[in-house]
Amino acid sequence: MDQSSFRQAGALHVGIIMDGNGRWAIGRGLPRTAGHAEGARAVRRTVEGAARLGVGTLTLYAFSADNWRRPSGEVGALMRLFRRYLAAETARCVDNGIRLTIVGRRDRLPRALVHAIEGAERATAGGTGMRLRIAIDYSSRDAILRAAERLRDDAATDESPTHERFAKLLGAVHHQMQPAADVDLLIRTGGERRLSDFLLWECAYAELYFTARLWPDFGEPELAAALDDFASRDRRFGAITSAVAG
Ligand code: FPP
Repeated sequence: MDQSSFRQAGALHVGIIMDGNGRWAIGRGLPRTAGHAEGARAVRRTVEGAARLGVGTLTLYAFSADNWRRPSGEVGALMRLFRRYLAAETARCVDNGIRLTIVGRRDRLPRALVHAIEGAERATAGGTGMRLRIAIDYSSRDAILRAAERLRDDAATDESPTHERFAKLLGAVHHQMQPAADVDLLIRTGGERRLSDFLLWECAYAELYFTARLWPDFGEPELAAALDDFASRDRRFGAITSAVAG
């Protein structure tokens, strides 16, 4: 399947590590939290742009399990921002057929945020358009470990584990019924070039795209540029390209 048919089929999975909010704010003499607020506006633009551009699944890294180490004021501001985002965007997601799920641990999140998450997931569950996944209190290594525990505890079968079965267990760790889906394109903004414990299993064959642009300056045109770059990649999945196959 080439990249254009991926897009036509709405099957493309794009992951984004949204980095650079703090630097965006500091560069303007503003508190870091102002960068996060502007980052939430970039999320809205990017989600709407992704749906228009035919992305099938969009997974956004909003808060890593390591982000709890940030100052409590910044963490609290982020949690409130996530809750406000869900309150404001759920109806728009319903209108646009977007199905929203949150991936990551929930037991450490404020109760009000968990309620907002459950409400947003319920309200958008019938969406048949783009799947929007937001990772909050997420650690890919932690999710893989928990899936491995489930595999060990699954007494129902003594079959050798397959990739498909493990992907199913990994999906279940993330509060969703769908198996973990491979990422086709992973974008990271803000100039850093690392994965930071994001979707490590799912990114086994992802194409990587790094941009120096800070997250609050990201939106539909920048996403379209990343998708154009992706379309030019020769994805071989370990095989040889058809152009040189004899
Ligand atoms: C990393 O940039 C960004 C975060 C840890 C938070 C991401 C949050 C948002 C984009 C805001 C809203 C999200 C949703 C889903 C409503 P950084 O602050 O580490 O930037 P820096 O590297 O410049 O300091």
